[in-house]
Amino acid sequence: MRKLSPTFIYFFGALGGLLFGYDTGVISGALLFIEKESWQVSSWAWMEGWITAAVLMGAVIGAVVIGPMSDRFGRKRLLLLSAVIFFVGALGSGLSNSAELLIISRVILGMAVGSASALVPTYLSELSPAKIRGGVSTMFQLMIMTGILLAYISNYALKGVSGNWHWMLGLATVPAALLFIGGLFLPESPRFLVRHDNEAGAREILGMINDDPNSIEAEISDIQLMAKEEKQGGLQELFGQMSRPVLIMAIGLAIFQQVMGCNTVLYFAPSIFVAVGFGASAALLAHIGIGIFNVIVTYIAMRVMDKVNRRWMLNFGAWGMGISLVLMSVGMILAENAHIGFGKYLAVIALTVYIAFFSATWGPVMWVMIGESFPLKIRGLGNSFGAAVNWAANWVVSLTFLPLLSFFGTGKIFLIYAACCFLSIWFTSKKSY
Ligand code: BGC
Repeated sequence: MRKLSPTFIYFFGALGGLLFGYDTGVISGALLFIEKESWQVSSWAWMEGWITAAVLMGAVIGAVVIGPMSDRFGRKRLLLLSAVIFFVGALGSGLSNSAELLIISRVILGMAVGSASALVPTYLSELSPAKIRGGVSTMFQLMIMTGILLAYISNYALKGVSGNWHWMLGLATVPAALLFIGGLFLPESPRFLVRHDNEAGAREILGMINDDPNSIEAEISDIQLMAKEEKQGGLQELFGQMSRPVLIMAIGLAIFQQVMGCNTVLYFAPSIFVAVGFGASAALLAHIGIGIFNVIVTYIAMRVMDKVNRRWMLNFGAWGMGISLVLMSVGMILAENAHIGFGKYLAVIALTVYIAFFSATWGPVMWVMIGESFPLKIRGLGNSFGAAVNWAANWVVSLTFLPLLSFFGTGKIFLIYAACCFLSIWFTSKKSY
């Protein structure tokens, strides 16, 4: 087998995250132009809701259906399959000439996003030596953030081009093709190979990412031990007594990561900038600034991930996110009711600090922990289940966001997400899992 550098393996292994970020991040900018199409739709608000929700719906399906197949067919083959689905979904979205076609293409795209979120964290964690495993798995979040940043940049750069939204959505075919080509060279996960009696193949792949023959042998015996003890598991094992603590942890982390409001804050950022007095164009630029800041913070998280206890990171992040949401809320309430200029600036600073805490802690740690914690025999299944719960929670938060917003108003709504942050501290401090 050809020798590949670990950087190549980790880069292409994590690339699905970039598509995840781009495809979910691009739609808010693209919708501004899709709205101007003279399509026959009964209500634009309703249609936009569907166009946005289509990816989330597809993601739940992709995580549930495609992820578990990786225990049987291998992580690599399924990654290649998701690259093909990414490509088809992006091409279909870019070429759409009706709302129906766009919604169907976005569901297909969502299936790829969901399957990548179920496959990539497991693949990265199985391909990295224990001492850098958390850092390597954090590359997934780094790619998501980079994808979101690229989406903001393409929204900004293409807004004046004719056929703008078609280009914005269609551009995702490029990284999808890259993922497929790079994926052809990627090795299979050594854990999967040992489980399928190909120990020589596993040893060869471990040799690419690890120079120390002793630790390669230690890893092989470790995998063998686990593989021997555990027959291939199914739903019964996933919901059985033995896996219960990991399952509760995965469900809790997946739900809390969403109900702490990360996507609503990202979604809301440009409106807050406009409220503070930036023009619409400057607000989009400021959004790009936040995107760059996010990537930097996630990079720092990647460097410290293996040096700090994961539970500690979650608690630290939840305090930081909760407090900044309260400040953001206070800032918005001051600005709305008393027209105090200081309130607007407080809201913008608190929003930026919130996103920094999320990107450094809950963003990556949730995916890393779900990817590495399930027993080997149900790892693909378990990770898929966790990913599906995360996407379903994401869906519920986005569906309820606008109704809650009109009920509570812009300031107070974020106090609900702050309360969820503080509640998560109780959850992560429990020692039973
Ligand atoms: C979350 C996504 C979110 C992304 C960027 C991920 O960890 O699961 O819901 O859109 O981070 O904030």
